[in-house]
Amino acid sequence: MKFFIDTANLAEIKEAYDLGVLDGVTTNPSLMAKENISGQENVINHYKAICDIVDGDISAEVIATDYEGMIAEGLALAALHPNIVVKIPMIKDGIKAIKYFSGKGIKTNCTLIFSAGQALLAAKAGATYVSPFVGRLDDISMDGMKLIEQIRLIFDNYGFETEILAASVRNPIHILKCAEVGSDVITAPLSAILALLNHPLTDSGLAKFLADHKKSAGL
Ligand code: G3P
Repeated sequence: MKFFIDTANLAEIKEAYDLGVLDGVTTNPSLMAKENISGQENVINHYKAICDIVDGDISAEVIATDYEGMIAEGLALAALHPNIVVKIPMIKDGIKAIKYFSGKGIKTNCTLIFSAGQALLAAKAGATYVSPFVGRLDDISMDGMKLIEQIRLIFDNYGFETEILAASVRNPIHILKCAEVGSDVITAPLSAILALLNHPLTDSGLAKFLADHKKSAGL
């Protein structure tokens, strides 16, 4: 399973990349706003800075919601770096745009997926990734993980090459469950990725090893 980080924070991206387990980055307009990145030039420079840190797929989201606008923005984003994946919302014109980019060999990530039908449509249009939002479904008392399972079954039934990129992943349990049900990719905040490191028995075990070493070495 690939690990992407879901942030536009360069320090966190670098920390995750330096850990050696990062395969890519996802951003969205809310995450850019959180880092106070605004204005076309700043946004473009920020994507370039991310591409300089991480050797892997970097999702850059279009703002336009009409077909022509999405094509123009997507082409400009894709021209920035070969690792840019054009992130397109799950709307009617978005599906058309995904089909267009797929024909041009430009990678796409269809975002804001909340049903298996939406995922199927995006896969039919040739999306490289579909992003079902696990946490936001959980927030409204729907089972986000069930959606990942359902999409996995459908994609496997027909051999779709579109990858399931579980998004709105917020904690280590989400990450583990995604791994159990066969998500291709998870994108999560750094805190959720780092939380996988923790176990109290690891901490107490290491403390004991070090104390015993000190004793036997007469330190
Ligand atoms: O990748 C989508 C993600 O940024 C949304 O996460 O926590 O706002 O639902 P969240």
